[in-house]
Amino acid sequence: MSADAQKRLAAEAAVEKVEAGTIIGVGSGSTVNHFIDALAASDIEIEAAVAASEASAERLRGHGIEVRDANSVSELAIYVDGADEINRHLQMIKGGGGALTREKIVAAIADRFICIVDASKQVTALGDFPLPVEVIPMARSHVARQLVRLGGRPELREGFATDNGNVILDVRALDLSEPIHREQQLNDIAGVVTNGLFALRPADELLVGTDTGVQRFT
Ligand code: 5RP
Repeated sequence: MSADAQKRLAAEAAVEKVEAGTIIGVGSGSTVNHFIDALAASDIEIEAAVAASEASAERLRGHGIEVRDANSVSELAIYVDGADEINRHLQMIKGGGGALTREKIVAAIADRFICIVDASKQVTALGDFPLPVEVIPMARSHVARQLVRLGGRPELREGFATDNGNVILDVRALDLSEPIHREQQLNDIAGVVTNGLFALRPADELLVGTDTGVQRFT
């Protein structure tokens, strides 16, 4: 089974978690695209969604699903999103698509974070995937120097701007064996908007699409 078919399986399993009449948070990426399509094809009618990227908002609207601004809701029943890597504590690296900051905001508003991935995303240790760090453009060089000091090898994501108008530094070789500490430390660098470690707020439930079906972890 292809990775894409595994993503679709996980996405369809997440649709079963959605309660009619609720407002839900929706992340971004190819797995989330499957979720949006499967939700639209189901008979579950939600009140509205808060989207973590312009691309997801557009896809939701394309299916006739109302999209609300995050500031207009005080709570979300669930947040469904993918990940680039996820460990057994359900801590993640996210931001491969560059939507990490809005993803972290919507995840913070939600009661439950349901992560949907294909089997390749499960790892024993975070860090093979370069860690995305969203940076205010004028701080790019300063932040890169601080990341090098911490042992990382930052690389500017060329030709890319986030939905917030910022740049992304993709960082290799950082020791992520203490993800909570590292997430806080990176966020303390002046000019960092946020980083792609989701350890302070890990997922609550993980749905993994595999060749033999969906595996669930809490
Ligand atoms: C985007 C993300 C995505 O969730 C992550 O990159 C996974 O993407 P995909 O579902 O396409 O594999 O964090 O910023």
